[in-house]
Amino acid sequence: MSETLERWQSRRAFILAVTGAAVGLGNIWRFPYMTGENGGSAFLLLYIVFVLLLGLPMMMAEIMIGRAGRRSPMQALAFLADEADVSRHWKWLGLFGAITVFFILSFYSVVSGWSIEYLVSAVNGSFVGRSPQQIGASFDAFLADPLRMTFNHTLFMLLTMSVVAAGVANGIEKLNNVMMPLLYGILIVLGGYAVTTSGFGAAMHWLFTPNVAAITWSVVLNAMGHAFFTLAVGACALMAYGAYMPEEQSLPTAVFAVALLDIAVALLSGIAIFSIVFTHGLDPSEGPGLMFVTLPIAFSDLPGGQVWLGAFFLLLLVATWTSSINLAEPMVSMLVGAGWRRSRAAILIGMLVWLVGLLSVLSFSTLADVHWVGEMNFFTLVSTIPPDIFLPVGGLLIAIFAAWRMSPEAASAALDVGPGGFRLWLGLVRYVSIPLTVVVLMTSLM
Ligand code: PHE
Ligand code: NA
Repeated sequence: MSETLERWQSRRAFILAVTGAAVGLGNIWRFPYMTGENGGSAFLLLYIVFVLLLGLPMMMAEIMIGRAGRRSPMQALAFLADEADVSRHWKWLGLFGAITVFFILSFYSVVSGWSIEYLVSAVNGSFVGRSPQQIGASFDAFLADPLRMTFNHTLFMLLTMSVVAAGVANGIEKLNNVMMPLLYGILIVLGGYAVTTSGFGAAMHWLFTPNVAAITWSVVLNAMGHAFFTLAVGACALMAYGAYMPEEQSLPTAVFAVALLDIAVALLSGIAIFSIVFTHGLDPSEGPGLMFVTLPIAFSDLPGGQVWLGAFFLLLLVATWTSSINLAEPMVSMLVGAGWRRSRAAILIGMLVWLVGLLSVLSFSTLADVHWVGEMNFFTLVSTIPPDIFLPVGGLLIAIFAAWRMSPEAASAALDVGPGGFRLWLGLVRYVSIPLTVVVLMTSLM
């Protein structure tokens, strides 16, 4: 397969596409509940350290490989391996990435479906005048209803795959362009509201007062996995986007901007959600339902709350949509690379992901107590192992290829940081990111 000539229309388009992939459920849904389950400030601190030491340099490595190879992930890896005269087996990393995103998308779609349900409920005014207990109970009733969940999951898969099938991420990026700033606007309003609640002080204390005693190996592993998940690193999904990067664009600048924005969105939603948790005496370690229980409570307090709540879920839906498009891309581009028509590839992948997603749907009712590994039901399994283990393993292999295997000239040219910047990046990846990931993976898995 020869080099792709397609390019993002502008530097801004590239940044928007990567931001679209990064900002999603990871920031607004997963970050708060993981923080809640992993000791608050301890998790937050580790997560930021991992974003800076692992996420950023590895994100550069991943996008750089795509840009240097200018092909779909498997082909880019094979091409660069040939160029550097190393084993072609590196291309299987692209397959590993596709398997990782397959499982991630299967639960991502189910949870995004919850946003659809809440969007409709908000518009219908279903939360008006409800007590926190009633709001919690209605979420539980929704989870216990596989048909409603399947309906929303199906709708979300259709949304995602129709864009992927058309291969026009372009229209979506334009939509993103308008919607994302609005989402940040609402989050800032929510943050402002949080400051006025009685739980704000407790939330700040809980999030920002260092609590070293709460750090365990499982907290470390979860924080590392979340850093990869939230930046969308380690699955070759950003590699696919790197292939279309314009020639004249600074990769580190783009990556820094995206990472800062990603952290900011997570912090804002964390502050808002935990202020509500502490104001109403809820449980911070409530788990995956945390956001869906806290936000309707907060908005029902605000004037015009239903409109805000509806707008919030609509914008969240757009944010998760752009992430899920990125999740589907490595699988579809792999089949397209093997000669498939894009639309066919999208339909096949979409149907398979949808089917596996049904197991996550049922994990809240019929299959709730069916344990696949240890104590984990299917939803817990796919929302834990692929993000927390597969992504770091994928990121590690990507980093090894980028820093030890591919030709330094090609890497340096695609990173586009000048000789000094290149040495800094190389040193960081070789002697910090790679060893740190290995140590955390090995220690916490034993
Ligand atoms: N980064 C996305 C989020 O935070 C999830 C994602 C992971 C997207 C891996 C693409 C690849 O919601
Ligand atoms: Na994210």
